[in-house]
Amino acid sequence: MKNFVFRNPTKLIFGKGTIASLGREIPEGRKIMVTFGGGSAKTNGVYDQVAAALAGRDYIEFWGIESNPKIETLREAVKICKREGVDFLLSVGGGSVLDGTKLIAAAIRYDGDPWDLVLDGRLIGEIVPFGDVMTMPATASEMNLNAVISNKATKEKFGMRVDYPRFSILDPQTTFTLPEYQRACGMADTFIHVMEQYMTVTGESPLMDRWSEGILQTLVEIAPKVLAEKDDYDVMADYMLCATMGLNGFIAMGVSEDWATHKIGHELTAIHGITHGHTLAIVFPGLLRVLKEQKKSKILQYGERVWNITGGSEDECIDRTIAATENFFRSLGLKIRLSEMGVGADTIAEIERRFNERGAAYGENGNVTGEVARRILEEVM
Ligand code: NZQ
Ligand code: ZN
Repeated sequence: MKNFVFRNPTKLIFGKGTIASLGREIPEGRKIMVTFGGGSAKTNGVYDQVAAALAGRDYIEFWGIESNPKIETLREAVKICKREGVDFLLSVGGGSVLDGTKLIAAAIRYDGDPWDLVLDGRLIGEIVPFGDVMTMPATASEMNLNAVISNKATKEKFGMRVDYPRFSILDPQTTFTLPEYQRACGMADTFIHVMEQYMTVTGESPLMDRWSEGILQTLVEIAPKVLAEKDDYDVMADYMLCATMGLNGFIAMGVSEDWATHKIGHELTAIHGITHGHTLAIVFPGLLRVLKEQKKSKILQYGERVWNITGGSEDECIDRTIAATENFFRSLGLKIRLSEMGVGADTIAEIERRFNERGAAYGENGNVTGEVARRILEEVM
């Protein structure tokens, strides 16, 4: 097991009717900005619950933080926060609204262009405190310090580290209105978050392996119900908790991490706008094929424990395991080839170029370079 430090200060408030407790979590006397996405909060009743919980408090609303939050939109929010003296932020929506809110929180006390903070996290100084009502299981942004911010003008998308939410309120009932495609992408995202921390080397921590496999098995088990039964509370509660546990630092204790699938996926979103979780479902099987020697022992363990794949040669087991993974993504209703998404060789060349330009060396062995990324993408053409 590798050395590690674990600290996660987010207060997780989980369950039915928990939005009503919101007022108690925000200190009195604060000027609050409540941030939203494109309108789902209005149509699913979350807005009304938030407004009721904030009755009598001094708050303003900012609407329109889009999926893959854009720096162009966030700059506007930062300007308003500075003008109005906002000193607490509340995000209401999915991971995009929350990631955008994290960037706003870091930029309020910064004098330069907020995009500087995305490019160079060392510029981040004082961060305005923030909390959230999370309505979409996927990113675990509700319990981690990451934000992923896009730039419309330059077609770039980068992850950064900001801070943890003070509190996160998760009422699984808020997810009942999620469209099927978002459910599918959210499950794919959660699945790959676990993989990024699990599909590396064997033997570092049997305990963390079992936690990761437990999340993967739970996702496989509940996926058909998450798609078919829109308002099954217990199913959505388990899905929500899988998503949070998938990227709150817990399963990363003492183990190697990969993250190359995410790095490549971000480029597909930046260039083509493909939904985040969907990009991962496309890229990951290609990564397993290209790095199958390096990851051999872990792929075999994963195949046996998650998909009951045993017998035959090691190569056969690996092929069947990758096929089972692809079938899982297909069963979510996702296309898993670049050609099906209208992505061509020019995009692959552009991603290789971008990786080379920034001297990319991703993955647990630092060997996913531009050239390797190209081979991964060619596998899933
Ligand atoms: O904008 P609104 O109208 O709110 O609609 C959203 C959006 O269209 C809708 N939605 C959210 N909750 C809903 C709902 N619709 C009906 N009912 C509800 N309860 O769903 C759509 C997608 O929302 P979005 O927030 O974009 O999805 P997600 O939570 O998957 O966030 C994606 C972003 O997070 C980043 C991704 O790269 C992407 O930019 N990630 C953030 C991470 C983190 N902070 O740790 C890690 C991830 O790997 C990921 O990169
Ligand atoms: Zn992700």
